[in-house]
Amino acid sequence: MNAQKYVIGNWKLNPATLSQACQLASSLVQMDKSVQVGCVPSFVHLSAVGELLAESSILLGAQDVCAKTATTGAFTGDVSAGQLADIGVKFVIIGHSERRAYYGEDNALFEAKIQQAVDAGLTVVFCVGETKSQYQAQQTLVVLDEQLSVLKSVPADKLIVAYEPVWAIGTGLTPSIDEVIGVHRHIKQVLARYAMPTVSVLYGGSVNEKNAAEFATAFGVDGALVGGASLKIEAFSQIVAAFA
Ligand code: G3P
Repeated sequence: MNAQKYVIGNWKLNPATLSQACQLASSLVQMDKSVQVGCVPSFVHLSAVGELLAESSILLGAQDVCAKTATTGAFTGDVSAGQLADIGVKFVIIGHSERRAYYGEDNALFEAKIQQAVDAGLTVVFCVGETKSQYQAQQTLVVLDEQLSVLKSVPADKLIVAYEPVWAIGTGLTPSIDEVIGVHRHIKQVLARYAMPTVSVLYGGSVNEKNAAEFATAFGVDGALVGGASLKIEAFSQIVAAFA
């Protein structure tokens, strides 16, 4: 069985206003989608965007989830997996390098968040990737093995992995296609050892309308996790078309 293909737009802390988020969501709905598309707005825009996407095939995702409970409780500032599921969220991004770098999130926290997400029936999009110095020191695969180790007991049908080299995020730089193919092959071997050979492995990091076709034809690349280019509907629809 082949891994399912996805093109997911991670809007991060964008756009600035609710009306811009709704405009972007409405354009997504109009877009021709011949591959499974996902969109991940910020928390404050989730409900409104979710309503706009309700009749479409686009999957709604969240950028974070509470590690302490999947339901309710005294956790100021948190949003639980159950609350997300209740408003139609289907998946959550965990392990993103921006959470690792800016908030010191680590494997123990990711394991807890993954557990809450899975308990509430959400799919986890788990991000892994090496920093520039790790890349230069040829430590990529060692780093990835350590990051992937938290996935051992995640149900395979609730998991998507995204390989996002930290140095490629928002920089316009990307690894060579051969490097991407090699890393994806390695990730899939690790996942096969965890008895999850058909989990999708997406590439993320400066994917745009110009390079999408090359990534789309790379062996073992099951889609893309797109940041900046997902905010421009024209660019994003060309990326989606490349993966179709
Ligand atoms: O999660 C997607 C992301 O980190 C890649 O961002 O802007 O390089 O496409 P960008």
